[in-house]
Amino acid sequence: MGRSRINIAIDGHSSAGKSTMAKTLAKELNYVYIDTGAMYRAATLHAMKERSVVDTEVNEVGLRAGLERMFLAFKYNPKTEQSEIHLNGVNVEKEIRSMDVANKVSLVARVPEVRTKLVAIQQRMAEAGGVVMDGRDIGTVVLPNAELKVFMTADPETRAYRRLRELQLAGKDVSYDDVLDNVLSRDRIDSERAVAPLRQADDAVVVDNSDLTVEEQFNFLLSLARTRMADRT
Ligand code: DC
Repeated sequence: MGRSRINIAIDGHSSAGKSTMAKTLAKELNYVYIDTGAMYRAATLHAMKERSVVDTEVNEVGLRAGLERMFLAFKYNPKTEQSEIHLNGVNVEKEIRSMDVANKVSLVARVPEVRTKLVAIQQRMAEAGGVVMDGRDIGTVVLPNAELKVFMTADPETRAYRRLRELQLAGKDVSYDDVLDNVLSRDRIDSERAVAPLRQADDAVVVDNSDLTVEEQFNFLLSLARTRMADRT
């Protein structure tokens, strides 16, 4: 008999709303949500603390050696009702969202040894099923056998506008043009990197949510998930 709980892989462009969708689905299904972007961000913070990444200079030898001293874990925080990432026992959920980490993460995420280590952890977390995982290479590399793969996107202008609103709500003073530039450059870096570039798995369901509300999208994905679950029984 196979697993009764399926795995769901959600990939797609940055600011396409992957994490909102993955979190909501996990909650509804009583599954575990795994934010793999948080893991790459925490690996970046670790490298920054060890000074293997300074400004845009990466000391790859130091960075690789430092991986042995990096322990990542997700722990549930009852206050925020979210699972939050811990680096060597310290909750770094807030710290990994800084601009400093955001600007350096693509340098660290492209190092093959970093990806090998994080992918192995992610695969272990999904072994028993019942996981909703979001990232860039989940359907293609991490969970090629996931029962449901979703590739989420929206046009760059829509994503930039959503991101701008988020930043403004957080009190940040930024212009639409700067945010659009950042969205376009992250798309380029994510899609063009040599190791595990962002690409759609052949069997992924593509969801362009430019003209969908969060609720419409959620209902669509939930019905897909329920169909795939029923297919297994
Ligand atoms: O989803 P996010 O913005 O938190 O991701 C942070 C960075 O990590 C982003 O530059 C892409 C990278 N990433 C990756 O390379 N592979 C993943 N599975 C998830 C994120």
